Amino acid sequence: MIFIAGATGFVGTNLLETLNKREIRTRCLVRSEKKAEKIKKLATEIVYGDITDRESLTNVMEGVDIAVHLVGIIRETPKATFQKVYIEGTENLVEEAKTSGVKRFFYQSALGASLNAPFRYSRAKAEAEEIVKRSGLRYVIFRPSLIIGKEDGFTENLKRLFSLGPFIPVPGGGKAKFQPIFIQDWVKCFMYILENENAWDRIYELGGPEHLSYREILNLYMTAMGIKKPLLNVPLTCVKAALPMSFLTKVIGKVPPEVSVEQLNMLQVDNITEPEAVEKLFGFKPKRLEEYIKDILQT
Ligand SMILES: NC(=O)c1ccc[n+]([C@@H]2O[C@H](COP(=O)([O-])OP(=O)(O)OC[C@H]3O[C@@H](n4cnc5c(N)ncnc54)[C@H](OP(=O)(O)O)[C@@H]3O)[C@@H](O)[C@H]2O)c1
Repeated sequence: MIFIAGATGFVGTNLLETLNKREIRTRCLVRSEKKAEKIKKLATEIVYGDITDRESLTNVMEGVDIAVHLVGIIRETPKATFQKVYIEGTENLVEEAKTSGVKRFFYQSALGASLNAPFRYSRAKAEAEEIVKRSGLRYVIFRPSLIIGKEDGFTENLKRLFSLGPFIPVPGGGKAKFQPIFIQDWVKCFMYILENENAWDRIYELGGPEHLSYREILNLYMTAMGIKKPLLNVPLTCVKAALPMSFLTKVIGKVPPEVSVEQLNMLQVDNITEPEAVEKLFGFKPKRLEEYIKDILQT
């Protein structure tokens, strides 16, 4: 039995689809009945709880072999801070896993996670990694770059951005490099560690086969979507200053991209590992963005 926290999210539902097809039993932690709707045909069992609420996790992992922690937030709110979700939430899940006798714990971190990182998100991810590593449980930690698939958060934000005006603003010039990985390739990597016990007790950095600048990624999306608008470099300070006014786009009937100051700062720093990482570690060639972008944009 595999326990999944974060099963209703983008990565979680994609993983769940594969586990369901292979008839692997899953128990998914969900925050509400409404959220459960999305996955109830895919999950074997559904349990209710919130990882920031220790008591709500009591007994949810009874009889579980592997706990999979995919819970994440990219923007903080007063109720859901990185401290609460990543650090306290991970502590709660690890504690409950140990109490229930779970042997293996999978944690989804992110490329750039480091206790000395300049970003709160990356530092919180690294602190959560430390909690998992010192838990005494067997662990795997994935540190992926951007994960791309149907309805992923990044793609949805780009669609909103493209719909806004006559040009596409590129905060800070868009030169920083990313290494997008196709969600189905991420799932293949996951299945590899699931099936290979000797692949455990390691951290894996994951990315697709190419380093692409944000600008190059924008161009690939626009070509795939048949959008012809000029890209316009906008100084970072101007974009940050405009953020509080993003509600104005709602006045003209458009939904603005959801983005925080920290996300804008993260857009300025390379988020890459070796282009051959997946091939070397998992033995297959991951797809290039150009190979799957049209498929994921289809509605
Ligand atoms: N997507 C990427 O490009 C990317 C890249 C690197 C790393 N990651 C990491 O991969 C993980 C999954 O990402 P994703 O794109 O699938 O994110 P997502 O679509 O935003 O999903 C987040 C999941 O976490 C759940 N969640 C949030 N707060 C929770 C809480 N307090 N208790 C229980 N569940 C909670 C959400 O449940 P609800 O449905 O109830 O909101 C949802 O199932 C995250 O840790 C993320 O940081 C993602």
